[in-house]
Amino acid sequence: MSKTILITGASSGFGLMLANDLHQAGFTVIGTSRQPEKYQGKIPFKLLQLDIDDDNSIKIFTEQLFTQVKQLDVLVNNAGFMVTGIAEETEIEKGRQQFETNFWGTVKVTNALLPYFRKQKSGHIITVSSIVGLIGQPNLSYYVASKHAVEGFFKSLRFELKQFNINVSLVEPRWFKTNIGHNAVASTGNIADYDLYRKQVNAFIQKGLDEADEPDEVVKTITKLINTNDPKLSNPVGKMTGMILFLQNYLPKMFESSILKSVETA
Ligand SMILES: NC(=O)c1ccc[n+]([C@@H]2O[C@H](COP(=O)([O-])OP(=O)(O)OC[C@H]3O[C@@H](n4cnc5c(N)ncnc54)[C@H](OP(=O)(O)O)[C@@H]3O)[C@@H](O)[C@H]2O)c1
Repeated sequence: MSKTILITGASSGFGLMLANDLHQAGFTVIGTSRQPEKYQGKIPFKLLQLDIDDDNSIKIFTEQLFTQVKQLDVLVNNAGFMVTGIAEETEIEKGRQQFETNFWGTVKVTNALLPYFRKQKSGHIITVSSIVGLIGQPNLSYYVASKHAVEGFFKSLRFELKQFNINVSLVEPRWFKTNIGHNAVASTGNIADYDLYRKQVNAFIQKGLDEADEPDEVVKTITKLINTNDPKLSNPVGKMTGMILFLQNYLPKMFESSILKSVETA
């Protein structure tokens, strides 16, 4: 029987491309968006309303989901956004909002579906983290912290769910061309001491976004995870991710100086 896949944040970027591909390949795909009405008639798979920041929306969505599908095999926690800015200049409220969506929203959607997966005694929870869930990165402290939190939570959850035959994996992409830059929320704090650094670090992040690859590689990685019986926990994707993690873990001074130099010369 073909698998039923739920993808949060399927109106754009990775989620949209993955949902389209899986739908075409014959999977039953349910996607979500905060405003599904905007996409009516424009996408071939079912798109349901879900705001992962909103407990009531998660409750209504979960009830609605099981009126639409008889089974659920895979949850792809993909919805998320990015707060940018130097840490000291970033408003705490923006930092909290970053966690509300990327960490708490993802956790709450997962929790809402766990009773179903446990009862079924099978399932696969795939969460789109980021390479910056594994390393530090200037100008993105709250985003980086939210993805580190995601990493810690799902790594731990993996142990707890083995007994129910529920798999947990993480996907850690580097930069890819989606709407993440366009949808980013920037800090508006302005501390003069950071004036030069702010320019450099913004250019560094923009360079990453400009030189990003098309998202196919991420979609392929997630599709492969969906099709395997024994999925790996951690799945970094993108240019030089292996080298970046090697440097951080085994040559930390070189790793640090390469980031500092990239910011200076961006
Ligand atoms: N692009 C990259 O280089 C990159 C790298 C590493 C990790 N990631 C991660 O990949 C995931 C997908 O991002 P993307 O790059 O594809 O960005 P994107 O094009 O901006 O798509 C983000 C998706 O998330 C949904 N979303 C955002 N906030 C939401 C909320 N509060 N509740 C429900 N849905 C919400 C949006 O749907 P609506 O606006 O329709 O609700 C949209 O479909 C994110 O978790 C991001 O952190 C991206």
